[in-house]
Amino acid sequence: MKKVKLTINGRAQQFIVDPKRVLLDLLREDLKLTGAKQSCDRKGQCGVCTVIVNGKATRSCLAKVTDLDGAEVITVEGLGTPQNPHLIQEAFVLSGAIQCGFCTPGMIMAAKALLDENPNPSIEEIKAALRRILCRCTGYKKIIEAVQLAGRFLRREIAPDQVRPDPNGPKIGVNHPRPSAMVKACGVAEFSADIKVEGAAELAVVHSPHAHARIKAIHTAAAEKMPGVIGIMTAKDIKGTNRLKFVVADRPILCDTTVRYIGDPVAAVLAETREQAVAAAQAVEVAYEILPAIKSPAEGMAKDALQLHSEWPNLCHSQPQIRGDAEAALAQSAFVVETDFSTQMNHQAPLEPEACVAYLEEGDEGEEPILVVIGRSINIHYHLGMLQGALGYENMRYEEAYSGGQFGIKIDITSEGLAGAAALHFKRPVRFIPSLTESMYLSPKRHPFEMKMRLGADRQGKLTGLTMDYIVDNGAYLSAGRAMVFRALYMLSGSYYIPAVKALGKLVYTNNPWGSAARGAGPPQANFALESAMDMLAEKIGMDPLQFRLINSLKPGQPKSTDRVVDQWPFPELVEAIRSHYNRAKKEAEDFNRKGGPVRCGVGLGTGAFGISMSGDSANVAVELDPDGGLSVFAAAADPGEGNDSMFIQIAAHLMDLPMSKIRLVTRNTERTTATGPAAGSRMTYMVGGAMVDAIQKLKAAMAEARATAYDQLKAAGKPTRYMGTKKNQDAAAKIDPVTGLGSSFESQVHAIQMAEVEVNTKTGDVKVVKMTTAVDAGTVINPQNLEGQLEGGVDQGMGFALREEYVAGQTKDWITFRFPTITTACEMEHIIRETPRNTGTLGATGVGEMTMVPTAPAITNAIFNACKARVRHLPATPDKVLAALGKA
Ligand code: FES
Ligand code: FES
Repeated sequence: MKKVKLTINGRAQQFIVDPKRVLLDLLREDLKLTGAKQSCDRKGQCGVCTVIVNGKATRSCLAKVTDLDGAEVITVEGLGTPQNPHLIQEAFVLSGAIQCGFCTPGMIMAAKALLDENPNPSIEEIKAALRRILCRCTGYKKIIEAVQLAGRFLRREIAPDQVRPDPNGPKIGVNHPRPSAMVKACGVAEFSADIKVEGAAELAVVHSPHAHARIKAIHTAAAEKMPGVIGIMTAKDIKGTNRLKFVVADRPILCDTTVRYIGDPVAAVLAETREQAVAAAQAVEVAYEILPAIKSPAEGMAKDALQLHSEWPNLCHSQPQIRGDAEAALAQSAFVVETDFSTQMNHQAPLEPEACVAYLEEGDEGEEPILVVIGRSINIHYHLGMLQGALGYENMRYEEAYSGGQFGIKIDITSEGLAGAAALHFKRPVRFIPSLTESMYLSPKRHPFEMKMRLGADRQGKLTGLTMDYIVDNGAYLSAGRAMVFRALYMLSGSYYIPAVKALGKLVYTNNPWGSAARGAGPPQANFALESAMDMLAEKIGMDPLQFRLINSLKPGQPKSTDRVVDQWPFPELVEAIRSHYNRAKKEAEDFNRKGGPVRCGVGLGTGAFGISMSGDSANVAVELDPDGGLSVFAAAADPGEGNDSMFIQIAAHLMDLPMSKIRLVTRNTERTTATGPAAGSRMTYMVGGAMVDAIQKLKAAMAEARATAYDQLKAAGKPTRYMGTKKNQDAAAKIDPVTGLGSSFESQVHAIQMAEVEVNTKTGDVKVVKMTTAVDAGTVINPQNLEGQLEGGVDQGMGFALREEYVAGQTKDWITFRFPTITTACEMEHIIRETPRNTGTLGATGVGEMTMVPTAPAITNAIFNACKARVRHLPATPDKVLAALGKA
């Protein structure tokens, strides 16, 4: 131990610490300052732990406390409070630079260190100063803008009040700051790992190192004797089904007989400290009988393949789609492209680990205690039901903490099952803060697709027919796998009218990590094939790709491939909106390429028509007029960073003509809300916002009938103050025909066309995305900054998907091996936003969050081809694949 003096946030303090103690632990564990976060396993990769030490931005996970004697430390809590924020915190809030907010304290501290030295930094200087801090949500654009704005505030060129929208002015179409932004900027928003539970013990899990094996024995005796160990839990200790049933009950909380992928959880250790739990988990010995692993769908469908689950065949789902006679149409087509495409397994990569908390709370007299689970579920009621069945315990509550991003990963849950089971078994409050590697093990992945496609056109360039066979690697457990097959089919024809379609989607169990939702969930994979084939066909015909897309646009009154006829399709307008940008970019690329040299510039397009509100979807929201004239909104509607809270508050304040401060959201707790479906599928504004509008209209109708303008008058008239609103997909009764795949699909569409401008180094295969331009129409815009934030974050994720990111089981273990996009890989972005009010939209708005990455990958690979004739058909387009394609070119 060593004595160390530090001044932390202006207060001189003395600590006696172990030489191994790092500053991050001192701040978080000893001083309970939770502004500094942890994402990577203290490898210096994420930067969200950044604080200022002696004036320098410092990753606190790497700084040994004993090396800091006499140092001055400033954390984000030392800058300002929500009531009295620092100008940099104000700038981040007002710039819309905060989505989930998990990276925000680190970003703000790095910005402070920079601006203290250089009050007017260039963009390159900002990028250099912030380069060690990762953000998954924003695409970094608004973070750079926030630092620039902070510089202007600090230089006294402008004051926050000159930027801040008038809270009493219009509510819709205005950049009102998010309700949670300031607490995130000040580091006082509680994420799961920040929640303090007295007496909580720490959980660590034993994971399978094998992709497929039988569990012969689990030897725990040595681990049980280790310091601090409270106990070790295996499958036999779980009283319920031990199956987290999302659709089918195939996935155990802890494996009982068999492990089916690298990372499957086998046992869990509870100990007094995390270090003790991790050490004991490493001492648990599991004897395995290794079984042959099914590494691909082809192996899974082979005649002699082992069946992974006795109740379900490896080919666990298939769905055709047949509209017209695609074979005949293609046989008669003047031009046909026939080729194959594939997309990789990917990690959604929220920065926050799969942390959660579980504890028993005293119930009503005579009742069993309430098991409370706190995590970042995006569907708290559904997940509560899953947990109740798996744990065999009814009296439960789920609470949603602030969430460090999710991007589809939390459509399903894992760590909550482990923590909940441990809290019940050991009767101790439990904190489970898995490492990054473990978080990758415990969470689902984006499904890899293998696709074979034929696309034809006539002599005039009109599309004639499409065939598409695609096989989806489901991994070890089903989760939402069937939805990927459906969603790819529902949006198969993209932005276009294709008269004849024949498709077949198959879903196959393998011993790979299990797949589930990931931003876009199906369409980013299938649309990569379609949009690549569109460019290949345009090339064959000799037609400009933009014009080819325009003449093939679907029109109102025509059907999508599902046969559903659309009544709105504002895609041609987007083509026209991007045309001048396209012409400018093409000319610049041609001018550049004329100079010669190994670096070639290219311009590529991708489009997408993304469906919102699947057939059968419905949502419920209750509103209640409060005694002071405010409005409470009750909805189990998660906001893991998209801005759903803003959407509710701005719409409710607009409709009720109230200040936003008088709208109260009650959204994060199963006891106080009813289910309203997941914060997924880009459905929140359209469905849940729509249900809230319905509830408010009912309240207003009651007030009008009672001639009441206030709570007391409504009460005096004998009217209720609480109203339930609903929104139902108008196709609720319709179903997709299982044989033809035809029928209703999505009720509303968001449209986009994206243009990538790239530089390809033909010697190294390196691709640099210089700029992405997006023209999008999502109907009425409720909050422009939030919409732009979705565009920018989605484009950045789409770039990662296109060029570098891949999850390789057993090899991808951290943010370096994942190749996480950084501020230095981010590109310039421009948006063209059109607002065609949707007939069935919420005040005319539809959804947008996932669309933003759907066209990105094909736009980039089409740009690579445009630059140097290298066609990359298998993502990610890494330099070796670009070079290989160049060799063939
Ligand atoms: S936790 Fe410090 S860099 Fe990741
Ligand atoms: S806002 Fe940066 S990680 Fe979410």
